[in-house]
Amino acid sequence: MNRFLTQRKIARLIVLQRIEIIGPILKKIRKTLGRRIFTNIVSKFFINPKTIGKKYYEIMQNEFNLIKEFISEKDIFFLSIGSGAGGLELIINNNFENKKFYFIEKNYVSKKVIYNWDSKNLEAYNNLELQKNFLKENGIKEINIFDCDNDKLPNVKFDVIISLFSLDYHYDFYIYKDYLKKVCKDNTKIIFDTIRADHFNKIFKNVVVLKEYNNTVHKSKRLLCSNFLI
Ligand SMILES: C[S@@+](CC[C@H](N)C(=O)[O-])C[C@H]1O[C@@H](n2cnc3c(N)ncnc32)[C@H](O)[C@@H]1O
Repeated sequence: MNRFLTQRKIARLIVLQRIEIIGPILKKIRKTLGRRIFTNIVSKFFINPKTIGKKYYEIMQNEFNLIKEFISEKDIFFLSIGSGAGGLELIINNNFENKKFYFIEKNYVSKKVIYNWDSKNLEAYNNLELQKNFLKENGIKEINIFDCDNDKLPNVKFDVIISLFSLDYHYDFYIYKDYLKKVCKDNTKIIFDTIRADHFNKIFKNVVVLKEYNNTVHKSKRLLCSNFLI
């Protein structure tokens, strides 16, 4: 099936996590009414969960295509920081066998949704119960989700760590630096988007630019890093 099974409640979160999913008319309505009214009223009634499930799948399939060559059969333990609903992890799960997925997320939707750099790291657009149901419904059987504000984070040596448009895109990498050092092996692959790519040459021995987003406001880059230097 080339779409995710998407209930309305999770679809309402997905359109916050991936704003490119809503079409031009809804975008215009959101601009006119503001994000809060949009989330509480418009997306409660006027989005089509089936269409969201299909578009979200397509976007995540493209994200997967960009990173799939860096995932090997030997990679077992995956950590996602700020995965949103977890569509990318579902597609990894569809394409490989025996992967174990861990998620670190926030368990609330902030009232004032700001899509820029969040120096206090208060912005969040998730609900971990809905995320768990979405992952289960779409095929991940063993689900380990951790609320970064309230849970003890998993102490596992990860093979791959993924954070799309979250770590060092919305909030400071240094919030997680010590934790990441603890759960990384030398060759753990860390994939994330950043608005200060050069900075990471000081932090990692290996830094590869996977993609440059030159036409966006943030002008971010997607990096694949490994081997902490500091
Ligand atoms: C723009 S969304 C991106 C979601 C997903 N990675 C994607 O590409 O669709 C950013 C996500 O980061 C989460 N987030 C914010 N602060 C976080 C933190 N400190 N740790 C983990 N997740 C966080 C938000 O709740 C939200 O789901």
